[in-house]
Amino acid sequence: MAYKTVKGTYDILPDRLYKFNYVTDLFKHFLDLYGYDEIKTPVFEYTGVFKKDNDTSDMVTKEMFTFSTNNKETYTLRPEGTAGVIRSFVENKMYANPEMPIKLGYIEEMFRHERPQSGRQWQFTQMGIECIGDKNPLIDAEVIALGYFYVKSIGVKDVEVLINTLGDNESRLKYKDNLINYFKPHINNLCVDCQNRLEKNPLRILDCKIDHESEIIKNAPKMELTKESKEYFEKVKHYLDILEIPYIVDDKLVRGLDYYTDTVFEVISTNSASGSQATIFGGGRYDNLVKEMGGPEISGIGFAIGVERLLILADAENIFDEYKKEIDCYVINLNQEPDYALRIAEELRNNSYTTEMDYYARSLKAQFKSTERKNARFILIIGEDEIKNNTVTLKDSLTKAQEEVNKDELIDRLDSLLEDYYV
Ligand code: HAM
Repeated sequence: MAYKTVKGTYDILPDRLYKFNYVTDLFKHFLDLYGYDEIKTPVFEYTGVFKKDNDTSDMVTKEMFTFSTNNKETYTLRPEGTAGVIRSFVENKMYANPEMPIKLGYIEEMFRHERPQSGRQWQFTQMGIECIGDKNPLIDAEVIALGYFYVKSIGVKDVEVLINTLGDNESRLKYKDNLINYFKPHINNLCVDCQNRLEKNPLRILDCKIDHESEIIKNAPKMELTKESKEYFEKVKHYLDILEIPYIVDDKLVRGLDYYTDTVFEVISTNSASGSQATIFGGGRYDNLVKEMGGPEISGIGFAIGVERLLILADAENIFDEYKKEIDCYVINLNQEPDYALRIAEELRNNSYTTEMDYYARSLKAQFKSTERKNARFILIIGEDEIKNNTVTLKDSLTKAQEEVNKDELIDRLDSLLEDYYV
């Protein structure tokens, strides 16, 4: 029986994995730049970590992979990173740290049971951050800056930043009531999801993927922000201006998860290759989540970038076209006896030169072909004479220069060739 990958999951083969590693390594660099420490939480948690009583999000109500091993407790493969990080923040009493906020970053696999399509998988990878323990518009702007400048540093151009405010608890509660009253008489003209959301989370009706063109939604009342919330949002926008981050205020942006308050944002791709899965990353502030998870009443903010969606965009913009894998050295061995070549290959590796060697004493022509396919910078040829003279014939594939080098001086010679080249 030959098996295939499960629907919604994919192998990441080497020719894609190098891109994957490139973007994740760069994200780690950005975590460093902005003072974030990496955290790892378990792949699965008690279901309650993700599922709250009044949840209305598709992610929680329809898409979680939940299982049990004893019919008592249920566990869920994490569908997102925030809840697990906040659980850990509370469990490990990080709130007692005198140096607030706590800034945590992660690169982890997530699991959602959605209809698979390009950019939408059952297993996918998020690069995320959470900045917990302080509420300050400077932080909101800095969080958006980290994500935006990171994505820009990959080289992609076709992105737009959308921002909105969902108001503080006071503005939102009032707005919820207004929206319920407004939508109630029209609710039968909206989709089933909207009908289900009416009482629990009417704000989600505003960014319904099915009914977003409906006049009922277009004419919905706007939120009246409290003075504090309005000033807060103005300051976030001001700091984004200072950081020269272009953004569009989209008052219908609500986000798919239930925990958001005040600032929310998404970075979307404007490239047609992204199709309907255009959101590269999204996030926002959460005033109530830490308390809901058993911690003190403190606020946090974060985002998560979908690696697969970022790579779809990067591919569409030909970002990785120039890249080719290279090695430092290829050892051509023309002798049936490989001992001499084997020792040289190992010495090169011990001195940090990435090295491959021929295993079969193939013809010179065949081995030269391999050096080209593998993009070897230096080619080391070992025939009978070289063994007799304790030397190596060294060819620099860039300059085409060839010379015979004493085996004991090989590393020094390579070092100096590289030094001369980079001076
Ligand atoms: P989210 O918007 O649900 O937010 O997901 C963030 C990103 O993960 C999306 O923009 C998308 O790039 C990627 N993503 C989501 N679902 C899939 C999927 N099925 N296949 C491929 N990529 C996907 C969150 O998860 C929040 N935890 C973000 C956050 C952090 N908010 C505050 N802190």
